[in-house]
Amino acid sequence: MLFPEGVAIDGISGEVTPSTDRYTKKLSELSGLFHDAAAFDKVVAEGGDPIAYEVVDYRKQECDICFGTTIMMPGQVGGEYFMTRGHFHERKDCGEGYYTQSGEGLLLLESREGEVRTVEMKPGICAFIPPEWAHRSINTGSEKLVFVWFCATDAGHDYGTIRERGMRKLVVERDGRPAIIDNPNFA
Ligand code: F6R
Ligand code: ZN
Repeated sequence: MLFPEGVAIDGISGEVTPSTDRYTKKLSELSGLFHDAAAFDKVVAEGGDPIAYEVVDYRKQECDICFGTTIMMPGQVGGEYFMTRGHFHERKDCGEGYYTQSGEGLLLLESREGEVRTVEMKPGICAFIPPEWAHRSINTGSEKLVFVWFCATDAGHDYGTIRERGMRKLVVERDGRPAIIDNPNFA
């Protein structure tokens, strides 16, 4: 049986207390994601394979909703900012909300039909991710980017589509600012 409880979310560290699960993605686990493969190998080797992001869950299988945080480190690979893998949800009726707590970033979204949109990630903005839009978070700042996400427990993740063909746009630093450019490797 489930009981109500308050869950503390630290908006700076992203810690969730109590939490039910967590994982960490090291940069080396994001091989193939960045445009510049040589720069990727260099940052992994010389940077000691830094943590790119961590995800902390509050998830009860018996309940249809869940939430948690994503904590993204700042960093770049060949001018491209650290980012998440990006995914569609397996369930075609499942959207998601991303409420940014601290830091700054860009949420890159792409519909199944190939339409691209971005939503600014900054404290106080809750991004609505509709069903059937792939979503990738990008830390464009110099601090941690921390956001709370909430979605259906059984939304599921389709990572394969984005892993195989990439997303249509890249977010890179140009003149000290984020710029959205075409992905030359988009298949
Ligand atoms: C869940 C969700 C987030 C991401 C997390 C890491 O549906 O969108 O919790 O899973 O931000 O991103 P990915 O999963 O794309 O590596
Ligand atoms: Zn999602």
